[in-house]
Formats: sequence, structure tokens, C-alpha cells
Amino acid sequence: MELEKAIMERRSIRQFTDKPVEKEKLQELLEAAIWSPTAGNIQPWVFICVTDPKMVHNIRVVSPGMLWSTSAVICICSDQQKALRAGGKGGAVLSLFDCAMAAQNILLRAFDLGLCSCVIRSFNQAAVRELLDAPEHIHPELLIILGYSDQSPKPPPRNTDILFWEAFGGEGVLK
Ligand SMILES: Cc1cc2nc3c(=O)[nH]c(=O)nc-3n(C[C@H](O)[C@H](O)[C@H](O)COP(=O)(O)O)c2cc1C
Repeated sequence: MELEKAIMERRSIRQFTDKPVEKEKLQELLEAAIWSPTAGNIQPWVFICVTDPKMVHNIRVVSPGMLWSTSAVICICSDQQKALRAGGKGGAVLSLFDCAMAAQNILLRAFDLGLCSCVIRSFNQAAVRELLDAPEHIHPELLIILGYSDQSPKPPPRNTDILFWEAFGGEGVLK
């Protein structure tokens, strides 16, 4: 698939059919995640792929931003021990950038594989950490919900008046 198509046509989809996501596809997504850019190649992240329906349900219960059920969730976590040890004082912030980069790789690869997805940040991080049996230095940062869907929502509007040549407030880019 053309990269441009994936960038322009990927949409956040929140409601899925009952068709489960194949394990092979989930493996592809996890591999895409680890090839994301990461500051200093520190890789201060952990990816936990959840497919057990009971666990997905439990995650949903503590995630106000996740309104419908799904067959697969990837929980992107920062590893704060690694982030601080290797990245020093700025390591915590860098680890968040890294997790966001990994999220984008997952979303685009998911679209490429015919899957629908949505990033969820509205969830109880402490509760999800506990549910996933993760130690305290592992911080769940983003959930990626995944599934199949027939929905094709209209693209939400994007601002273009924030694009400038050369300096802030300079000539607009898209007229
Ligand atoms: C950091 C981040 C957090 C988000 N959290 C949620 C969320 O908790 N619940 C939700 O339904 N969508 C969430 N979204 C999806 C956005 O609402 C969505 O990306 C936005 O409306 C633009 O739509 P699009 O992804 O189809 O272009 C989140 C997106 C990002 C990048």
C-alpha cells in the first residue's frame, strides 16, 4: 500500500465487528512498533498485547475513552527505569515521545493490514498497570484498540492555517 494512502485514509475507528484480529497480524504490529524511532536507541518501552476477552473487558471497565468492546488491545507502556537510567533527567519525557512514535507505526501498519484502530489515552493508568501485572516502573501510556469494521467515517476537519514557510506567522503553505 502507498504510504500516502495510509497517512491520509487512516481514521480512528472505535466500534468493531465480532471478527477477531489474527495473531499473525498482531505480531506484525508489534514488530512495526519496535522499529519506530527511539531517542538514543534507548527503547524505553514495553508492548503488551491483550486478546483474552475477560482481560479486554476489565481494561474497558477502567477506560472511559474506550466505549465499545474489541478483540485486541495493545498497551504501549514506558519503562521509566530504563528511561531514567539511560536518558537521565530528560528520559521520562523522551520515553513519551518514543511511545507516541511507536503508536503511529502501529496505526499505519494496522491500516496497511486492513485493520481498524484507535488510540485511547482516557484510561486509568494505575488500574491498567495492575490488571496487566506490570511492576511500578512500567507506565501504561496509550492503548491501541484494534479490530475489523465496516465503518468509514468522514475525515474530521484539519487546520491548515498553522503551516508556515520559514518562520512562525510567515507565508501560509496551503492556500
Ligand atoms: C494521544 C491521543 C489520545 C487519544 N485518546 C482517545 C481516547 O481516549 N478515546 C477516543 O475515542 N479517541 C482518542 N483518540 C483519537 C482521537 O480522538 C482522533 O485521533 C482524532 O479525533 C482525529 O481523528 P482521526 O484519528 O480519525 O484522524 C486519541 C488520539 C491521540 C493521538
